[in-house]
Amino acid sequence: MTTSRSNQATEEILERYRRYLVPSYARFPVAFARGKGSYIWDVEGRRYLDFCGGIAVNGLGHASPVLAKALEEAAARLVHCSNLYYHRAGAELAEILVHWIGPGKVFFSNSGAEANECLFKLARRFGEARGAFEILTVEGSFHGRTLAAMAATGQEKVRRGFGPAVPGFRHVPFLDLAEMERSVGPATAAILVEPIQGEGGVRAATGAYLRGLRRICDRHGLLLFFDEVQTGAFRSGRFLAFQRLMEGCEEEAGFLPDGVAMAKGLAAGFPIGATWIRDPYGDLLGPGSHASTFGGSPLACTVAAAVLRYMEAEGLGQEIREKGERLSREVQAMASPDHGWIESVSGLGGLLGVRVRRSARAVAEDLLARGFLVAPAGDRVIRLLPPLNVSSEEISEAIAILRAANEAEAQRGENEGYGPPA
Ligand SMILES: Cc1ncc(COP(=O)(O)O)c(C=O)c1O
Repeated sequence: MTTSRSNQATEEILERYRRYLVPSYARFPVAFARGKGSYIWDVEGRRYLDFCGGIAVNGLGHASPVLAKALEEAAARLVHCSNLYYHRAGAELAEILVHWIGPGKVFFSNSGAEANECLFKLARRFGEARGAFEILTVEGSFHGRTLAAMAATGQEKVRRGFGPAVPGFRHVPFLDLAEMERSVGPATAAILVEPIQGEGGVRAATGAYLRGLRRICDRHGLLLFFDEVQTGAFRSGRFLAFQRLMEGCEEEAGFLPDGVAMAKGLAAGFPIGATWIRDPYGDLLGPGSHASTFGGSPLACTVAAAVLRYMEAEGLGQEIREKGERLSREVQAMASPDHGWIESVSGLGGLLGVRVRRSARAVAEDLLARGFLVAPAGDRVIRLLPPLNVSSEEISEAIAILRAANEAEAQRGENEGYGPPA
């Protein structure tokens, strides 16, 4: 990190935010100006290694030539034409997603919450004839900030103060198949889970759990939905995290959910949401039943198709699987019950969670001051979300910064004479 004494440009931007923007985000006090690859520069000229990655969005890092070229071409050709008509880019992107997931159809939107909303409406259409409408989700989950996505979210702190909640969602403990099955009632239409909980602290399900959910859904005539908004687009090492978790499991071949919500990394920074729906359920949403003005524009679809094709051609899933494993292993080796703040590491590929003994926010602030961006997940976990094309040297740099910060904390603890929590 190159340091500059001046914070004048930052202060000026922060002051205008304070004055003109709704203060709904707990932002870190830094303003960014530009990025390149795994690095980002603030308005004072300081450089940071970016493992926040726009919270699992910037799969190709910053200023990717792949993204820039697709954006430029689509912008010069056709940006928007409305869903009253057809266009080639929409056909191509939907075809890619269906080939990579399974036989089905795709609905395009603009965000993760919207991708989930399509699943919520699908569940209601599916259950309508027998009076079923309820979706079971799990504790600790996160599904977005619209009213319905908030109601689906299994975290009281997200829902607090915005009642009454949209009806039709119930939360059961994560990873507890017996409790899930006991919770199924006559009004239940679907089950929705994240294969790896992101905002909830990077907690991964297992293939056996996902298979168990499939069996419950099959026994009771329910739809099985996965929220892969954070875990999709190769972040786990496979295109979707459920595919990664099912590797080597009995019934891996042919295993499919009935719906998958995707967004974040699909176009590596350009906004897009997509909901894949397994055959034949996509046809439940007939003409006039669901829509989005901007969803699936030629621009968004061109960019996402270019990004996904590039990721696949370059083998970025395999790359991040290997680099993530090394990062995970080396950070795990720093974990100690009585030294520093690193407690343990969870997650897969480029979605890692480091459980910390201090406040996650305080650790993220310390790392920010050391020129390293990470994303807190809850009170006690920081997420490491490198670009999928991160280099080995950049992984080494991240490890060195984490080691130095952890050692400094251990030193501070020893000097101040405090030990591990009782
Ligand atoms: C698993 C999951 N679902 C849904 C969302 C909501 O996505 P968006 O903010 O694009 O609406 C998020 C965002 O963090 C997420 O992690």
